[in-house]
Amino acid sequence: MPDVTITVNGQRETRAVETRTLLVHFLREQLRLTGTHVGCDTSQCGACVVHLDGRSVKSCTILAVQADGAEVTTIEGIGTEEKLHPMQEAFRQHHGLQCGFCTPGMIMRAIDLVDRDPDADEKTVRHQLEGNFCRCTGYQNIVAAILAGAIAMRNQT
Ligand code: FES
Ligand code: FES
Repeated sequence: MPDVTITVNGQRETRAVETRTLLVHFLREQLRLTGTHVGCDTSQCGACVVHLDGRSVKSCTILAVQADGAEVTTIEGIGTEEKLHPMQEAFRQHHGLQCGFCTPGMIMRAIDLVDRDPDADEKTVRHQLEGNFCRCTGYQNIVAAILAGAIAMRNQT
């Protein structure tokens, strides 16, 4: 089995992996970072979104060996319990979650969206979220949270 080294949430991690190991399974099973969820086996739901070298990706579509040498950020790496990331705080304030299963992927997607398009309007946010499913169908509040989170992120810089 080859070794891969991936910097995850700022920490270099080296593990032996089977070449077929998906990045999401590397994160969840080998590093025990279970905030990244698996919600489908068809690469459609977006529950597994993380940042790979600063861009949001579905970690179920990437092999761990493909991420060798890369930097990955998961939901565990963006804030703390004492100080949430502004986008997490916006989800909390705007009730952007019900069961919470889709939430890590939504938040990681939203942060990337705002990083790339800080002034995204509601239509753009809805369009950009088409790869993230919420089975509780809380889209109204999720979109409101992202728009508020975008303002908070802008004010932070
Ligand atoms: S688990 Fe990756 S898109 Fe559903
Ligand atoms: S909050 Fe339940 S799936 Fe989105």
